[in-house]
Amino acid sequence: MRQAGRSLPEYRKARGNLPMLKACFRADVITEITLQPLRRYDVDAAILFSDIVVPLKALGLDIEIKPGVGPVIAQPIRHERDLARLRNLEPADVPFVTEAVTALVSELGGKPLIGFAGGPFTLASYLIEGGPSKSHDRTKSLMYGNPAMWDALLGRLADIAISFLRVQVAAGASAVQLFDSWAGAVGPEDYRASVLPHSKRIFEALADCGVPRIHFGVTTGELLGLMGEAGADVVGVDWRVPLDEAVRRVDAGKALQGNLDPAVLLAPWDVIERRARDVLGRGRTAEGHVFNLGHGVLPDTNPDMLARLTDLVHQESARDAG
Ligand code: CP3
Repeated sequence: MRQAGRSLPEYRKARGNLPMLKACFRADVITEITLQPLRRYDVDAAILFSDIVVPLKALGLDIEIKPGVGPVIAQPIRHERDLARLRNLEPADVPFVTEAVTALVSELGGKPLIGFAGGPFTLASYLIEGGPSKSHDRTKSLMYGNPAMWDALLGRLADIAISFLRVQVAAGASAVQLFDSWAGAVGPEDYRASVLPHSKRIFEALADCGVPRIHFGVTTGELLGLMGEAGADVVGVDWRVPLDEAVRRVDAGKALQGNLDPAVLLAPWDVIERRARDVLGRGRTAEGHVFNLGHGVLPDTNPDMLARLTDLVHQESARDAG
């Protein structure tokens, strides 16, 4: 999730006038911004400062991240001939990621660093639509209308995700998260036929790395079981499905991650506390639970509330452990 970012003054200072994707290509900036939330909050892991479109940019695609909008691509991928622009990613395409992860792992002194990549549906959607989309019409029209090109495109995106995640693990990342944020745009049968095989290949290709694999998307209530089947060890849940219900939807043997509504953090502390305790209570019904928000931190969030929230979660989990 986009956690660190926009709510912290030191983040805005570190970014200065650097466009988002310029910042993501500089090892010193990546390292500094990754560490910022850890200086404020007693969180249990760091998440690499990067973005799901970084590997695409590294391959030479004309992508930028427009503030308040999201990733935008000048020449969308719409025809078979466009696929040639998606060659496989080599470690030499992203040396700044290797450098930053290496520096971070030594700086973090044992605290885990989570690496990540974009999932096949979500990246395909940005590439096909040319930018963010509410309904993903063109994307789904390709999925329904030209399955051969769809599979070729998602196959390439899966290869890119595998390479990008392996670069991060090789440099010392101790968990990986695959964000298929917009996969909830398709129903379960289409997800099973057209998306899951590609995500499954990504998780299988990382099995020998020996790191926990997390999978998350928004509005994926109907897909939670399938996202676990794809091979994740941890299924991320947005705030729409209570965790005790998510437990019923995901196969045994998997942990859940989530799922406080990020908007709850805009309410007074007593509301936040009550809601956080509710999440923790429902999380106790899962085989394992990683407390997290149900999506990224909203830009107007008061950092003090996040600090109190991390402390509350630690207190409560220490009580469970004792
Ligand atoms: O918080 C962190 O630094 C963690 C690193 C991180 C970012 N993006 C940095 C970022 C992670 C894990 C992501 C993943 C990401 N990027 C996803 C999947 C997770 C999710 O939140 O659903 C998606 C869909 C994207 C694409 C993307 N990048 C969007 C939609 C946006 C928001 C555009 C906006 O301004 O509203 C971004 C920009 C982005 N990526 C920011 C950060 C810190 C904000 C940049 C800024 O405004 O300074």
